[in-house]
Amino acid sequence: MTYHIFQSLFVFGITTGVAISAVVQFLYYTFSGPSPDEVAFLPSPAIEAQQDVPKSNSRAAIQRLEDQFYVSTVQLQDMVKLFVHDMQRGLKRENALIKMLPSYVTKRPTGNERGTYLALDLGGTNFRVCEVTFATGQVRTKQRKFTVSDELKTGPGHLLFDFFADCVALFLDENGIPRDTNMKLGFTFSFPCHQEALNRGRLIRWTKGFTASGVVGEDVVKLLQDAFHRKGLSINVTALVNDTVGTLISHAYIDPLTQAGIILGTGSNAAYVERISEIKKWDGPKSASNEMVINMEWGNWGSDKIALPLTAYDLKVDRASPNPGQQLYEKMISGMYLGEITRYIMLDLISTGELFRGQRSVELEKPYNFDTANMSRIERDHTTDMSDTNMLLKTVYNIDSTLKDRRNLKQICQLVSTRAARLAAVGISAIVTKTNRLNGATVGIDGSVYEHYQHFGNHVKDALRELLGMVAQNVTLAQGEFLRCDG
Ligand SMILES: *[C@@H]1O[C@H](CO)[C@@H](O)[C@H](O)[C@H]1NC(C)=O
Ligand SMILES: *[C@@H]1O[C@H](CO)[C@@H](O)[C@H](O)[C@H]1NC(C)=O
Ligand SMILES: *[C@@H]1O[C@H](CO)[C@@H](O)[C@H](O)[C@H]1NC(C)=O
Ligand SMILES: *[C@@H]1O[C@H](CO)[C@@H](O)[C@H](O)[C@H]1NC(C)=O
Repeated sequence: MTYHIFQSLFVFGITTGVAISAVVQFLYYTFSGPSPDEVAFLPSPAIEAQQDVPKSNSRAAIQRLEDQFYVSTVQLQDMVKLFVHDMQRGLKRENALIKMLPSYVTKRPTGNERGTYLALDLGGTNFRVCEVTFATGQVRTKQRKFTVSDELKTGPGHLLFDFFADCVALFLDENGIPRDTNMKLGFTFSFPCHQEALNRGRLIRWTKGFTASGVVGEDVVKLLQDAFHRKGLSINVTALVNDTVGTLISHAYIDPLTQAGIILGTGSNAAYVERISEIKKWDGPKSASNEMVINMEWGNWGSDKIALPLTAYDLKVDRASPNPGQQLYEKMISGMYLGEITRYIMLDLISTGELFRGQRSVELEKPYNFDTANMSRIERDHTTDMSDTNMLLKTVYNIDSTLKDRRNLKQICQLVSTRAARLAAVGISAIVTKTNRLNGATVGIDGSVYEHYQHFGNHVKDALRELLGMVAQNVTLAQGEFLRCDG
C-alpha cells in the first residue's frame, strides 16, 4: 500500500462527518434549563414542615459516599502507571486489556488540503452523508441526515448497503453533482471492525440493535463499494475509520500539535499518534511519517478489576449491564452510566431512609431512567431553594423532596461526576506520559459529557495538574466545536 499525500484528505473528509455528528449526536442530551415560569415552582410548605419529623443522619451518608468516591492524587498517579503499562502490553500483543488497534492512518492533515470529498457516518440509527470542500482558508460542508429503519437494521445486509447508496445518490442529485463524478469517500463506521487496511475492515459483530444478515465477517468497504456499483455511482471508498480516530484527525486539521482524540460522550474511547517502532505487534509496512494513529479502545481498561477504585454501586451497574465484566473504565466515566451510578446511590439512600425520607419512586426504580443530563441540570441549579431540582424530582419521579434532600442529591451528583473527570484525566495523562510530549500536546475532546457538563473540563484539568505538575501547562484540551454544517 502506498502512503500518498492525499490519504489524510480522505480521512479528513470522513472526520468532518464525525465532527458534525458530534454536534448533532450529542443533542441526545437536552440541556435546556427551565423556562422562567417553571422556576416559580416552589416546594410546598407542607413538605418543608415535615423536614424535622423523621430524623435520619444524611450527613453520615454523604460522608460515607465521599470516602468511596474521592480519588486522591496518589491513587491517580498509581493508576497512570498501570495505564501506561497496559498500553505497552496492548502494543505488543493481540487481545490485551486495552486493544491498541493500529488504524492504518499514518498521516495527519496539514491544514493545506484542497478539494471536495464525501463522508459517510453510520453511528447507529442516524446515517449522515456529508460533502466537504477544502478551499483556501476555509472548509465548507453540506450534509444530510437519514434514519435507518428497523427493517433495514434487521433485514438482508445487501438492502442496508443499497439504502446507503440510495442516500448518497439522492444527496448528489439534490446538490447538483452528476452521479458519474469520480469522488473519494471516507466511511466512519462505529461498530467493532477488524481493520486490515485503510480501506478494508471486517465487521466483528453488530451492536446497537443491528442484525442485518451477511455482513458479519465481511469487508464493509467492499459491501459499500459493491452497492455503489449496483447503483451506477463511480465513488471510490478510500478509508474506513473509527469515530475516535476521526475525532483526532479533525482536531489535527485545526491544530497540527494534536496528539490524541478523545470521546467522552455516551461512551468513551481514545486514539493517539504513536511511533511505529513502539507498535511491536505491527508487521505491516513502515510509513514515511514513521507514525500511526492507534485506536486504543480504552473503555475496557480496568476490566481486570486491579486498577480502578470500584465501589459497590459500580459493580451493580456492571452486573446489570448487557456486557458485565467489560468496559469498566467506560462505565465509570461516560454519559451512558453516570446517571445510572447516581440512580443506584439514590435507591440505596432511599432504602436506608437517608434520602427523601425513604419515599420510593416507581420511575426511579426503572433501569437507566435517570439520565446523566439530569445530573448536569441538578449541579447547575444555583437557586437558593433548588427549585429546578425540586421540579425535576416532582414531575419526572413523583418525589417530594426537602431542600436538604436536594442539596444532598447535588453533592452526590458532584461526587460521581468529579470522580469521572479525574479518572478521565488518568487516561489523558497516560497518553502524554507514554508519548513523552512534555513540550506541548493538544488533546481534542468531543462528546456530550465533556461539552455540556458544567465544570467537567475544569475537574479534568485540575487532575492533570496533580498528575503532570508543570507539564500540564503544556497540554491543551481542545473542544471540537469548530466545524459546523451549513447544509
Ligand atoms: C469503533 O467505534 C465504535 C463506536 O464508538 C465502537 O463500538 C467500536 O468497538 C470501535 N472499534 C472498532 C475496532 O471498530
Ligand atoms: C480507488 O482509489 C485507489 C487509490 O487512489 C485506487 O488505487 C483504486 O484503484 C480506486 N478504486 C476504484 C474502484 O476506482
Ligand atoms: C431526566 O431523566 C429522565 C429519564 O431518563 C428524562 O426523561 C428527562 O428528560 C431527564 N431530564 C433532563 C433535564 O434531561
Ligand atoms: C513546556 O514547553 C516548553 C516549550 O514549548 C518547554 O520549554 C518547557 O520545558 C515545557 N515545560 C515542562 C514542564 O516540560
